[in-house]
Amino acid sequence: MSNVVIIGAQWGDEGKGKIVDLLAPEVNVVARYNGGNNAGHTVIVNGQKYILHLIPSAILHNDTLCLIGNGVVMDGAVMAAEMDALASKGVDVSPARLKISYKTHIIMPYHKALDQAREKSRGGNKIGTTGRGIGPCYEDKAARIGIRAADFLQPELMRAKIERALVEKNALLTGLFGLKAISVDEVMAEMLPVAERFAPYLADVGGEITAALQAGRSIMFEGAQGVHLDIDHGTYPYVTSSNAITGAAAVGTGISPACLDRVVGIAKAYTTRVGGGPFPTELLDENGEYLRQTGAEYGATTGRPRRCGWLDVVLLRETARLCGLTDIALTKLDVLSGLKELKICTAYTFKGRTLQFPPQEEDALAQVVPLYETLPGWDADISHARRWEELPPQAQGYINRIEELTGVRATLISVGPDRDATIRRDL
Ligand code: GDP
Ligand code: IMO
Ligand code: MG
Repeated sequence: MSNVVIIGAQWGDEGKGKIVDLLAPEVNVVARYNGGNNAGHTVIVNGQKYILHLIPSAILHNDTLCLIGNGVVMDGAVMAAEMDALASKGVDVSPARLKISYKTHIIMPYHKALDQAREKSRGGNKIGTTGRGIGPCYEDKAARIGIRAADFLQPELMRAKIERALVEKNALLTGLFGLKAISVDEVMAEMLPVAERFAPYLADVGGEITAALQAGRSIMFEGAQGVHLDIDHGTYPYVTSSNAITGAAAVGTGISPACLDRVVGIAKAYTTRVGGGPFPTELLDENGEYLRQTGAEYGATTGRPRRCGWLDVVLLRETARLCGLTDIALTKLDVLSGLKELKICTAYTFKGRTLQFPPQEEDALAQVVPLYETLPGWDADISHARRWEELPPQAQGYINRIEELTGVRATLISVGPDRDATIRRDL
């Protein structure tokens, strides 16, 4: 397979983990390029469930080299726990298989404290963050006071940087939020074992990828979150703090965008969202509950119920445009079985206009009225379908219509959480 970027096409949790795991045997290297342990990527292999937050979902394939790019923010304790859990199941997580960029920023205890304190103080206006310190860690990166994985090699320098950062952090924690100050000693006590453990994993990730490409190998770039959670192009301010569009794969690993060949947008056959923010096609009725229960729509990271709604093609069109999607992988089609009618949002009306793309003004998405097209549903259980011909005509019609409306071909159709519950159409 050529080099491929995996993009969350909606608001996250589209089934990226399953698709990465499925395609992993066709590439040699898989690199994560954004986000941190706000992500939860579920992979089910032989009935066994793995939820990966930081390590690429391809780690379960022995021959794949897994890389953590500079665009990722890493919580050392979470990474260590994830590695230990995998190792206890016999998965090789040695530095020969897993490498971390020197430039990856590290989530510190004060990032988590600030993330949680801020959310609490927002009252009814919460973003609904995962509370993992993601935003404050990216803030420090932009403010040029972040701690990077390279600092694991120089603990004294790391200590000095932390001490400097704590001056501002403690002023906020104590002065604004009424919390306890954090001492450099307690942070170092937590960070020294992390530094020691991960020092052997450090690598020039961009260099590794370039060398692999020169040796004729192929690369998959694993995205976290989704395009509409992108810090620039998502539903700001109800977004995460990193980029989730195709360009992030290049920036977040340190390679040229010219080597990105295919861009696969993973899209659920309906829409979900966790946390706050506008959601035009949200269903607050029994259909929404049906999707939540049938699709087991509860967050893989926080366990929160996911908000559910009809498929929103306006969002997908925007994703296709922003990301240059070459393919769609349509997931969870099986969840729609049993619904008499299915609705697809094909456009919005906003201030008397009909829009094919989301309006750009802040908060406008909360005011649009979705325009729906109604399609017939199907009753049959499709979770055993493995070929296009095995899908009921109504399901084929639903997919055909999505392709027409987005202009992108659905080359992968997922009908269950397992690796093999997939219909492939020439990816
Ligand atoms: P990610 O964050 O994009 O990797 O997605 P998550 O793992 O957070 O959420 C997707 C959920 O849907 C997981 O529990 C998957 O096991 C499950 N899943 C993936 N594809 C399918 C599918 O086609 N059908 C069903 N029923 N479940 C699926
Ligand atoms: P995966 O990779 C779904 C959401 C949070 C919140 C907002 C900001 O599993 O698809 P943050 O902690 O990032 O500052 O929270 O972003 N969010 C996700 N929602 N899937 C994810 O990742 C998410 N990562 C962040 O719920 O609304
Ligand atoms: Mg997820």
